[in-house]
Amino acid sequence: MVSFSHGQLTLTPEGLTVQTAHPRRPMTTIKISDGIIKDDILVVGLSIKTAKGALQIESGDLALETKTLLATLNDLGATGKSDEVILLPGTNTRLIAFTGLGKAESKYDCETLRRAAGAAARSLSGNSSATFALPTKTPTAVKAVAEGAALGAYLFDQFKGSTKSAQKTPLKSITVYSSLVNGAQAKALAEHAAVVAKYTTTVRDLVNTPPSHLTPDSFCKIMSEVVKEAGGAALGLKVTILNESQLKSKGYGGITAVGQGSANPPRLLHISYQPKGVKAKKKYAFVGKGITFDTGGLALKPALGMEAMKSDMAGAAAISAAAVAIAVLKIPVAIDAWAPLAENMVSDNATRPSDIITMYGGKTVEVLNPDAEGRLVLGDALVKAQEADDLDGIIDVATLTGAQLIALGKRTSAVMTNNTEFSQHFMEMTARSGEAFWPMPLPVELRASLDSPSADMANIGERMGGMLVAGLFLKDFVSDELAWLHLDIAGPAYNDDKAHGYTPLGGTGVALRSLIELALDAGQEAS
Ligand code: BES
Ligand code: MN
Ligand code: ZN
Repeated sequence: MVSFSHGQLTLTPEGLTVQTAHPRRPMTTIKISDGIIKDDILVVGLSIKTAKGALQIESGDLALETKTLLATLNDLGATGKSDEVILLPGTNTRLIAFTGLGKAESKYDCETLRRAAGAAARSLSGNSSATFALPTKTPTAVKAVAEGAALGAYLFDQFKGSTKSAQKTPLKSITVYSSLVNGAQAKALAEHAAVVAKYTTTVRDLVNTPPSHLTPDSFCKIMSEVVKEAGGAALGLKVTILNESQLKSKGYGGITAVGQGSANPPRLLHISYQPKGVKAKKKYAFVGKGITFDTGGLALKPALGMEAMKSDMAGAAAISAAAVAIAVLKIPVAIDAWAPLAENMVSDNATRPSDIITMYGGKTVEVLNPDAEGRLVLGDALVKAQEADDLDGIIDVATLTGAQLIALGKRTSAVMTNNTEFSQHFMEMTARSGEAFWPMPLPVELRASLDSPSADMANIGERMGGMLVAGLFLKDFVSDELAWLHLDIAGPAYNDDKAHGYTPLGGTGVALRSLIELALDAGQEAS
């Protein structure tokens, strides 16, 4: 029998089986140092100094003789624009990579550095190691370079069979050149970047795994593995899973209604993190939409583009991985992560338009459109999450509406809230993480469109402002007294255009970094 194991993939005569999720291949190692450069490749920045487009090489703390290099770059027609990476033969390293920074600045924004490092790392796939000397002036900027480089070093090849060896593997080792930080601080920053990259990989892998290999059940198994591998109970992590019959008997009408048309039954995954040995400074509940595939159900989606609906569990992946990352970073903030998981399918048992369901907690909903399924699974999980009485806030993350893409495009996620202070604070956290979010309103007058003549409410309302209507639906499942954020990541969760910066094609991992920043900030509060 031919059978070999490669990371999480096992190739058997029956086909491909996902065994464990994590880690698939050894993660890229990251260090921060200003020692002698031993790596294969040196990465430096290239910026635009004047209106006429004069170029400038920016190598941060590393002194570099730039005159002849600049002459060659000009000959080659280099522009210094972001996402441009140009390779030249090196002197002390085999190659020098010039990564575009755009307009020259005296101090670069962390996200500019993250993207420039990421673009370079992506284009250096197939090479072994690189040192990144970019213009960093603060420890946070050094961390951003490490993060960007590590996030760019991503490849999803678990389902490549005979063509696997033709894939260019990501950089194995990344050094960030900096004399600003050293010793314990350098180690801590590198470690933080490594954790961010590792759990972003978890999210991206889950999103990229096709529904043939990712079901509500296998999602739970993979995340249980991830928790175990991270340290599990020793870190304060605990996993609880409800299966379909438990969901039915406990009254989770939203999750079971969405999942009932599928041969792959629904689940509710709960990952809790209680910091060890210290009092938690805050406690947040995270709730993530986990539709492992969204066909639209009996409101069947058109075939064109339906494949992107394998990403409809990106919210669940982000909140689950965030809980684990926050535990691994030993942040003194308690997290309750809830992932309602279901596959929205077409069958003789699928929910029909006009069916009335009873959600967890007792509210009845007329399902006018089975394609508005995310709000049904989230409603149940939001109510369940609020049974914890000591929450400081609740955040749901969901690929909820196509309307999000219409409103904000493919790269900017929406934030809706019942508490402006909380959303403003979250916006500050996203400025740190570099993830693009934008606040959107929940206009009261749209709520009436969700009224139903026969049930407490309907699952669809006014078409215009569909993202806000979906947010208003969820708002009915959250106590006015609890600070709540709803993050609609429909577009940004999945990149179907082309890779850019540190963002690959496919799953992006969006929301994970902002959730980590939120926890970090809360953990630093004076007690
Ligand atoms: N999963 C989709 C939303 C989506 C669309 C995510 C495109 C990512 C990219 C969601 O379940 C959905 O189908 N929403 C409907 C709601 C409508 C029926 C009110 C939509 O947006 O069309
Ligand atoms: Mn849908
Ligand atoms: Zn959906």
